[in-house]
Amino acid sequence: MIAGFALGHMDACSSQLLLFEAYNFRHRHKSPFLSRNHDYHIHPFPSANKKSTAYPSSSCISSSNFGLGYPMATRPDGSYPRKIITTSDHLRHVDSMGTLPSGTGKISYLNAVILGDSLASEENDLVLPSPEFSSQALIPSSDKYIEMYRRSIVDPAGFWSEIASLFYWKQKWSDQVYSENMDVRKGPINIEWFKGGITNVCFNALDRNVQAGLGAKTAIYWEGNEPGQDGSLTYTDLLERVCQLANYLKDIGVGKGDAVVIYLPMLMELPIAMLACARIAAVHSVVFAGFSAESLAQRITDCKPKAVITCNAVCRGSKVIHLKDIVDTALVESAKNGVSVDVCLTYENQSAMKRETTNWMEGRDAWWQDTVPKFPTTCDVEWVDAEDPLFLLYTSGSTGKPKGVLHTTGGFMVYTATTFKYAFDYKLSDIYWCTADCGWITGHSYVTYGPLLNGATVIVFEGAPNYPDPGRCWDIVDKYKVTLFYTAPTLVRSLMREGNEYVTRYSRKSLRVLGSVGEPINPSAWRWFFNVVGDSRCPISDTWWQTETGGFMITPLPGAWPLKPGSATFPFFGVQPVIVDDKGTELEGECSGYLCVKSSWPGAFRTLYGDHERYETTYFKPFPGYYFSGDGCSRDKDGYHWLTGRVDDVINVSGHRIGSAEVESALVSHPQCAEAAVVGVEHEVKGQAIYAFVTLVEGVPYSEELRKSLVATVRNQIGAFAAPDNIHWAPGLPKTRSGKIMRRILRKIASRQLDELGDTSTLADPSVVDQLIALRDC
Ligand code: WTA
Repeated sequence: MIAGFALGHMDACSSQLLLFEAYNFRHRHKSPFLSRNHDYHIHPFPSANKKSTAYPSSSCISSSNFGLGYPMATRPDGSYPRKIITTSDHLRHVDSMGTLPSGTGKISYLNAVILGDSLASEENDLVLPSPEFSSQALIPSSDKYIEMYRRSIVDPAGFWSEIASLFYWKQKWSDQVYSENMDVRKGPINIEWFKGGITNVCFNALDRNVQAGLGAKTAIYWEGNEPGQDGSLTYTDLLERVCQLANYLKDIGVGKGDAVVIYLPMLMELPIAMLACARIAAVHSVVFAGFSAESLAQRITDCKPKAVITCNAVCRGSKVIHLKDIVDTALVESAKNGVSVDVCLTYENQSAMKRETTNWMEGRDAWWQDTVPKFPTTCDVEWVDAEDPLFLLYTSGSTGKPKGVLHTTGGFMVYTATTFKYAFDYKLSDIYWCTADCGWITGHSYVTYGPLLNGATVIVFEGAPNYPDPGRCWDIVDKYKVTLFYTAPTLVRSLMREGNEYVTRYSRKSLRVLGSVGEPINPSAWRWFFNVVGDSRCPISDTWWQTETGGFMITPLPGAWPLKPGSATFPFFGVQPVIVDDKGTELEGECSGYLCVKSSWPGAFRTLYGDHERYETTYFKPFPGYYFSGDGCSRDKDGYHWLTGRVDDVINVSGHRIGSAEVESALVSHPQCAEAAVVGVEHEVKGQAIYAFVTLVEGVPYSEELRKSLVATVRNQIGAFAAPDNIHWAPGLPKTRSGKIMRRILRKIASRQLDELGDTSTLADPSVVDQLIALRDC
């Protein structure tokens, strides 16, 4: 690795330490939340209380036939024989490095649980697709996966052009299906897919499906905050609504390449707005409607939109949030920064707020309901090049300034649609619900584009998952007969705490495949999701990916591979994940290190808006030749991938990415805060929580009131989801002699691991550590 390489605020050495701290931490602790076991020993006698009692067997299941036709003799007590599974030799690590996911070969495993047959109850259970599941699956076996994966790596151009041909292209892409340079040493980073191909994502998601006969099929079921409030749109309805809005946008002067900021809650109008932009080649930038006015202003200032689309208010649970007021404040702020927006299209969300009480600026503001429906229900498509931008989405990095992740048209379309189809084993009859908000990437790729491109029926839910009670999700599952349910571990953990009764009072019979995203799912939450929510019938697709990757990168394909609770398993087609050490050397076989990706995939982001240099520095310079994800990962001896969390200064709170620097800069903007350092600590429900060390201005006394006011500052500047759980008073911060804050020490103090502070002698003032320890409960 090149000398002097730095990861955000950390030097390579301390980030390496952090990674392995995180890794060891998980392995050392015995709490079910943290523990997992990579040693798949053969247990001659299973524990007596297990439902799936098993006995030693010599039956050997090769990857080519597990899930299909293996011996299934039931024992008299109703349990199933234990299995010894051997992955095919194709997966042997030594053979596989060239084209296949790295794995050492055999999975010798005795706690085999077969879908629908028994509970997953042991730490090291291996969950196999049942023969019934596999036989109907799109990828019915690991052999099929291996065949397709191999092709996708050996011949990416052929593999992806065949898939891309399933979509409508006004003009086919050029002979060169893709071109890439992922190596900073060879010049500027550049990724292009299907260049020269002329298409439109909205056309492919709507018109193409209507033309294929899906016009009368429900595209969106909308479920409001209050049970009983609902609505639905067929594909034809959706197309008409999108066209009306597209015509309106054109009428106010929005054209190809113009940015439109969308600040809406989960109303049908949110995907409608995204698709309307896509139709006319405007670039949408959705800002999660939980961000504060200041964050919204920052994003508006950066992308200079022609219009902002919002609604007057929203109810989340029993709270009313006045979104239009937040937009008003943001627009005053962005105008101060020289960016004024001419149009604010406002949807009247009547159940939350009447228009009469909404603050209004004549000339700038327009009611959606008064204007949009007047426009024609057809609208010509703006045909674009595959490499024309589709959208911008701001995400947190390790500096205070959010990054505008830019995705383009063709590759994103092909990739989200394909990953959706295979990872959820999608069938036309499925009813799909992803609980993510369209303010995050998951709502872009897997509420809106991926599913609609497949002609799927999706649920858009406005409310909170625990309102009016923690059974709401399963109420919705039964109401719409949801078959595919995709959510975040934080939600699983919070519902798990409420007890099984909220789940078991609903049938959930319709469920077929479950999904998880946003953070590593701890095995105990995995098992609860599997056993209780899915009645041990439904495979769980634990999908690892990022805003930057556009779509799934490492994910189970239900039907193809046995699952290990807590592992995202194997790479998706065309993705070559590698684990490198701090020198950037690829590690082979069983290992732990930094997760990188070798060579491009169609859904990859192409740049950071207005800052290609930052794109290269953040993602491609740390390990030249690779895309660096910012995540730590270990791979077990069977080749399964286990994500261990971020290794940079990004904190993952309930699946929301928050840069520690963003929170720090909000804190120091408080007049009484002199300095702040923010770290993430483990949290039972949220995964990680924000823990802030705050040094006050000289002479200011500590007080509860000040603590609240500091937290309020973060809420106001970023949003409630970024509020610190802890403010730890710090007379000083542990710094090196060169002034660098030693976050490693702060993390240990925050997580009360005082015996693991390590060497503090390199600190400019080692006594700071004792002061911090003394103040930990103040
Ligand atoms: C984390 C969300 C473990 C990871 C799609 C990544 C995960 C960050 C998983 C991206 C998973 C996402 N297992 N960790 N299945 N999925 N992550 O950009 O740390 O909001 O880097 O995209 O979430 O968060 P982002």
